[in-house]
Amino acid sequence: MDFERPDRALCRAELEKYRLEFEKYKEQNLQLNLARGNPSKAQLDLSMKMLDIVNSHSVLDSEDGIDCRNYGGLDGLFEAKAFMAELLGVHPNKVMVFGNSSLQIMFQAINFAMVDGVSGCEPMMFQKDRKWLCPVPGYDRHFNITMKFGFELIPVPMTDEGPDMDVVRSYVEKDPSVKGIWCVPKYSNPGGVVYSQRVCEEFAALEPAAHDFRIFWDNAYCVHGLYPDHEDTIPDIVGLCEKAGHPDLVYEFCSTSKISFPGAGISAVATSVHNQKGFKSFLQYATIGPNKINQLRQVRFFKNLANVKKHMAKHADIMRPKFELVESILEKELGGTGMAEWTKPRGGYFISLNTLPGCAKRVVALAKEAGVTFTNAGATYPYGIDPQDSNIRLAPSFATPEQIEPATEILCTCIRLATYEKLLEK
Ligand SMILES: Cc1ncc(COP(=O)(O)O)c(C=O)c1O
Repeated sequence: MDFERPDRALCRAELEKYRLEFEKYKEQNLQLNLARGNPSKAQLDLSMKMLDIVNSHSVLDSEDGIDCRNYGGLDGLFEAKAFMAELLGVHPNKVMVFGNSSLQIMFQAINFAMVDGVSGCEPMMFQKDRKWLCPVPGYDRHFNITMKFGFELIPVPMTDEGPDMDVVRSYVEKDPSVKGIWCVPKYSNPGGVVYSQRVCEEFAALEPAAHDFRIFWDNAYCVHGLYPDHEDTIPDIVGLCEKAGHPDLVYEFCSTSKISFPGAGISAVATSVHNQKGFKSFLQYATIGPNKINQLRQVRFFKNLANVKKHMAKHADIMRPKFELVESILEKELGGTGMAEWTKPRGGYFISLNTLPGCAKRVVALAKEAGVTFTNAGATYPYGIDPQDSNIRLAPSFATPEQIEPATEILCTCIRLATYEKLLEK
């Protein structure tokens, strides 16, 4: 159909047809959810043996003799640092290991910048008109942290090899009020983008106008490929920054949340020794040390990266068919119609779908009416405002295939309805 000059009679007829279909779905009183980026029960079951690793008969000393039952060890056990360093492909002396949530550590890293200031700069809470770059579509919880701390959030367009680096450079190198950027370099949330070597090198080569500018490199999906035989790799950003003469430019984050148990994994930060010193001098006020028994549990279960990869291949075997199911229904129902386009990610937890401009909110509201919950339209943009009102994040991991099938079919019906409604407004 020509969306510029739509055939109104045809639109009305199609609207009527899909409205009947929609009413039939509603009669089924379904309760389906493709909003949560949680691992499914089957994925959680893969790590159950971890719970048997540490018990009252275990040696609870770390490799260097620390009694892990007690306080202390602010930045984690030696063996946990070595393990997380291998996961991130960085040197262990760059790594600190903390509690269950990497998101909480990102929050604390910004808290540190606000209260103490970074590298001798004025604490950010006293600096007016602070800005933070947010590649879009992106992760709402990232955006919310920087919104909470009062940064102005600046959207930066994504390309298929990472954020648009001309835009990034024009802000970072010219405007000293720009203090940071959120990045999810591998299987970005929600676009599934893997940053290219060029983009990573250009990040490392940035010459920020602000001395306290930092890249927040959230490598949350570092081992989360859906196709383990075709593994994607990205370079070690900490090493790249060091080589480029900017050792303090980046904090890299990750956790074992979606490798073992969300809420009961361990998190890590890789950064220069100088940055570590500053951050720890702040964090010591918040905690006497992380849960080291859980660090032991995680390291003794996984042991090394090779085992993590084997484990993640089992996750992939559970996740891949769900992603492919969504993609095949979208293709069958909407392929070639021009009503939507969507990503086919090679890893991560999300499919990013774009409707025609002005339709996403309506689609999500219609789906809700028919009993299917999606992430709020707009959530992938700063302040929850998608200027095009077109992006919807689909999260197929938690639901079963039996739930994903009707949920995606209903989504397609809702996209048709919203599209025809929009065309008839013209
Ligand atoms: C990009 C990204 N970072 C961080 C997190 C949360 O990480 P954690 O469980 O370590 O706090 C998520 C969870 O969905 C995520 O998508």
